[in-house]
Amino acid sequence: GPYRVGVIVGSLSKESINRRLANALTHLAPEGFEFFEISYADLPLYNRDFDADYPQVALDFKAQVASADALLFVTPEYNRSLPGPLKNAIDWGSRPWGQNVWAHKPTGVVGASMGAIGTAVGQQSLRATLGFLNARQMTAPEAYIHYSPGLIDDDGRVTTPGTEEFLRQFMAAFAEYTARVLTVIPQA
Ligand code: FNR
Repeated sequence: GPYRVGVIVGSLSKESINRRLANALTHLAPEGFEFFEISYADLPLYNRDFDADYPQVALDFKAQVASADALLFVTPEYNRSLPGPLKNAIDWGSRPWGQNVWAHKPTGVVGASMGAIGTAVGQQSLRATLGFLNARQMTAPEAYIHYSPGLIDDDGRVTTPGTEEFLRQFMAAFAEYTARVLTVIPQA
């Protein structure tokens, strides 16, 4: 059947440009890939006291991640790092010790910002964490999207042809990367 990709949007804002970007990317993906969003908005702030008895909301979150063949992170940069809520979700997924749900997952990282360097530093922070957690990462091509108003319309259509083609190629590369990783590392 088709590969199922879990999309994790690094912004909880109702107006999120990264949610717009995620929507556009799912439209530009090649055939054979299905997308579902993995929400983490209801997770409490993690601390290790939870490890002895994980709350149901965290078990559900981990089950969603585990069920995905691959993960696509679409995230803003906050203060030159990844947003705290996203980091909190990743921490939940990494515990209890020995039950790290991120291990061996094929992942892609992309993000949009109004700022000139378009999430590059935040993506590096996220990549460092994913690396430590033993996730597989597509490390090239990279995609740092400099967002200006109207770049992606309400239907998830990219209004600049050059950017649309760039994102289509990014998704083609992510699809190929995912298929390659799954050939050697079947997911549970
Ligand atoms: C930002 N923003 C931002 N932009 C950037 O390019 N580099 C940065 O380090 C930051 N830091 C930052 C911190 C905080 C707390 C906020 C609220 C914002 C601006 C950010 O890119 C912009 O608000 C985006 O619109 C956020 O993405 P979403 O929420 O629209 O997807």
